[in-house]
Amino acid sequence: MAGSLKTYLQDPFLDRLWREIRQVGPLRSVSLDITHVCNLRCVGCYYFEEGMDSHQSPKDEAVFDDFIQREKARGTNFVTIVGGEPSLVLHRIKKIYDNFHTSVATNGIRKIPFKGLENLPIGVSVWGDHQTDKTLRGGDKVNVFQKALKNYRDDPRAFWYYTVAPGYAHELEHVVERCIENGNNVLFNYYSYSGEKGQGGALDFQQGFDNVRRAIDKMIERYPERILMTSYFNKVISTGRLFDEKWGYEVCTNLSTNNEINFERFQNGKPYNPHFRAYNADFSSTRRCCTGIFKDCDSCFDTWEHFSWVMINLKKHLATKQDFTNWLTTMYLFYLISRLVDVEAGLSLLPEIHRRVRQPEAVLDALS
Ligand SMILES: C[S@@+](CC[C@H](N)C(=O)[O-])C[C@H]1O[C@@H](n2cnc3c(N)ncnc32)[C@H](O)[C@@H]1O
Ligand code: SF4
Ligand code: SF4
Repeated sequence: MAGSLKTYLQDPFLDRLWREIRQVGPLRSVSLDITHVCNLRCVGCYYFEEGMDSHQSPKDEAVFDDFIQREKARGTNFVTIVGGEPSLVLHRIKKIYDNFHTSVATNGIRKIPFKGLENLPIGVSVWGDHQTDKTLRGGDKVNVFQKALKNYRDDPRAFWYYTVAPGYAHELEHVVERCIENGNNVLFNYYSYSGEKGQGGALDFQQGFDNVRRAIDKMIERYPERILMTSYFNKVISTGRLFDEKWGYEVCTNLSTNNEINFERFQNGKPYNPHFRAYNADFSSTRRCCTGIFKDCDSCFDTWEHFSWVMINLKKHLATKQDFTNWLTTMYLFYLISRLVDVEAGLSLLPEIHRRVRQPEAVLDALS
């Protein structure tokens, strides 16, 4: 089976993507809550839902510096910065950026300056149109989306990380248009929540993401030069299916490898990321995974975790050239979003990437 890889790479386009990814070398990643503090309380934010902020970030700069040194010694070369709200501790973002490949998520209210952080990939979160975002994120007072649009207008580092809930799929087109008009590209995420006693209403994941998937595919068809997610990947996340596997804890690849809660899982023969740790804001303890302590994995549709699931399962994608193309383009977009490959050249490849991955049913959906 692996022999076919050579044949697939006779296609110059695939060969180019493959080489660019390989050139970066192996990624040894961790996620880090850089602060437990946040200037918002978004409805159903996983961070506060499970009280992850009980791990407080030390004020002592030496503790943070020690963390950096320990991770460097361990061989970490990629840090995803989350929290809490990272933009509240800019000097610590800068320290991570100076030592590792870095990616950061922010609510966009406070601008992360350009100077000194020129190549930092910034995922700016949005959950819906102005009214929805204000209601779900801004406590009905702050127009978070508006502020973030202003702060990241034409900023080449910024991409929108648009978390969509099933009941808000109808807003997707309009929100994407606003993001693109603002001069930025868009990646999607799927809202993970079922509310008190599973009564999450419009936000409830239990409704399924079929309508969200269709709305995203439509955007890929309409703005192939601006959307950072392949139609294939959209399908994997929204259906939770990767060939014979069903997404969940038993196949999840981004689990803290030093946390005993996961030791049994590591015995089941399914691959996992052997370096990964999800660090709490105390800069030493870890939790089960980036987005959960005990959270029900059935509710998990997290885009970053699914990137890792696809990435680690290259072998499953070697049966046909289309399968391999689906894998490689999805991976390439991860590297592009993370600014690990030549960004300008990479962005110019987006239309061709989407053309090669187009799922027939997605085209039909988009036309309907
Ligand atoms: C916990 S936040 C931390 C970084 C920053 N405060 C922000 O909002 O981007 C990390 C990411 O998780 C997303 N998020 C939070 N709660 C979520 C949920 N219940 N389902 C899906 N995504 C969620 C946010 O939109 C954000 O993109
Ligand atoms: S801004 Fe980020 S960390 Fe803060 S509540 Fe919202 S999603 Fe959670
Ligand atoms: S909630 Fe955490 S452990 Fe569960 S599937 Fe998602 S990333 Fe994996």
